[in-house]
Amino acid sequence: MFKRVPGTRDILPGEISWWLKIEEASRRIFSLYNYQEIRPPLIEDARLFNRSLGESAEIVQKQMFLVRNNEDIYALRPEGTASIVRAYLENNLDKTNSFVKLYYTGAMFRMERPQKGRLRQFHHLGSEVIGSYQPQVDAEVISLGNRILTEGGINGYKIKINTLGCRQDKKELSSNLNKSLKDKLGQLCKECQVRFERNILRVLDCKNESCREVVSSLNLSGSHICKECADHFKQVREALDSLKINYQVSPYLVRGLDYYTRTVFEFIHPNLGPQQDALGAGGRYDNLVKDLGGPEIGAVGFAFGMERLLIADSPQPTVNSNKLVYIITMGDAAKKQGVRFLDQLRRAGIAADTDYEGRTLKGAMRQANDLKAGFVLIIGDNELNKDAVTLKNMSSGEQKEVKSADIIEELKC
Ligand code: HAM
Repeated sequence: MFKRVPGTRDILPGEISWWLKIEEASRRIFSLYNYQEIRPPLIEDARLFNRSLGESAEIVQKQMFLVRNNEDIYALRPEGTASIVRAYLENNLDKTNSFVKLYYTGAMFRMERPQKGRLRQFHHLGSEVIGSYQPQVDAEVISLGNRILTEGGINGYKIKINTLGCRQDKKELSSNLNKSLKDKLGQLCKECQVRFERNILRVLDCKNESCREVVSSLNLSGSHICKECADHFKQVREALDSLKINYQVSPYLVRGLDYYTRTVFEFIHPNLGPQQDALGAGGRYDNLVKDLGGPEIGAVGFAFGMERLLIADSPQPTVNSNKLVYIITMGDAAKKQGVRFLDQLRRAGIAADTDYEGRTLKGAMRQANDLKAGFVLIIGDNELNKDAVTLKNMSSGEQKEVKSADIIEELKC
């Protein structure tokens, strides 16, 4: 028998109501905040990600699913931000209304070592606001993420924020780190020894115990942040305070993608475990639009990992059979009448189903119970002779005879 590819999941019917709950809450909230949906393709020119995330980013180095087509190399998208900026520019959105507020949902692909909360195919629920440098937008985006979590019924998370400063500030921090970590390389984990060469900022948010010890002894003062960036961050915090959003400033939060500058943030949850505790994350990417050939404009966004929200929420599987009417027939003539009723009920907007497996009356009643049907409609010879059905209310247990012509009216009450 075939097995699913490691790091992928089957989202089974019992889980779908949870996905719908989060997606519906998000759509409502995005619309309240005046965001519009965008659906870019799942495959892109691989160079888009190399350019946006940075050649040294772990995703680009080792996690991209690549598809070769003659000279072209496509990537299954590992994230949404780069695709959305590409779509924004390619479709000239910058020419019609340069300020846009967008949201998206869908599958992302990264060739990771699979473990709890770390998949090879996972789903993002994200937003990107392109066209503004204003710190109030950063606060809006964080408050939007916060609202999705609270209205999605997810509790117990924390918000961490930091500022990376501008590109110049990041360079300065990198060179400071280079000097202070050079003598401590032996105390860093293997991955951080590579990061030291390729992407030294990532050493700061490594989860490994010994790296944490080294990092906490560095006493980061934030002195590499220039005045404009410090002021921007102050205004982000003030806006969050006025929105009454709880957050922690975390000077070690850096994020792994090259495009980030200034504000970065994460929503973390204890159920996810110490290795990857982020339900979602985001930040500013004020240089990306220009780097991809567009105008010089600021942008900020975030993405939640749906599967991580699921771990944090841990819902019970449910059968979504709200007021399902289950039809049980006895005999061939009744079966024909049952098919007509099924169609009539569904046309009237009433969810209906029947037994297609030849169950006995007892077995079919058990099935109706398992499906959590609201009503059972029984048709046998007796009912056919009277042009009626027997209707059982499954929650009260009450059973009565109803004329065939009145059944829709009766069920709609
Ligand atoms: P990211 O931190 O790489 O950011 O991913 C966002 C979220 O996706 C993570 O916090 C996590 O919940 C989830 N996630 C990431 N990788 C996996 C995985 N292998 N398995 C399961 N879940 C995962 C971005 O992708 C940015 N594009 C976010 C952003 C939008 N920044 C600005 N705008």
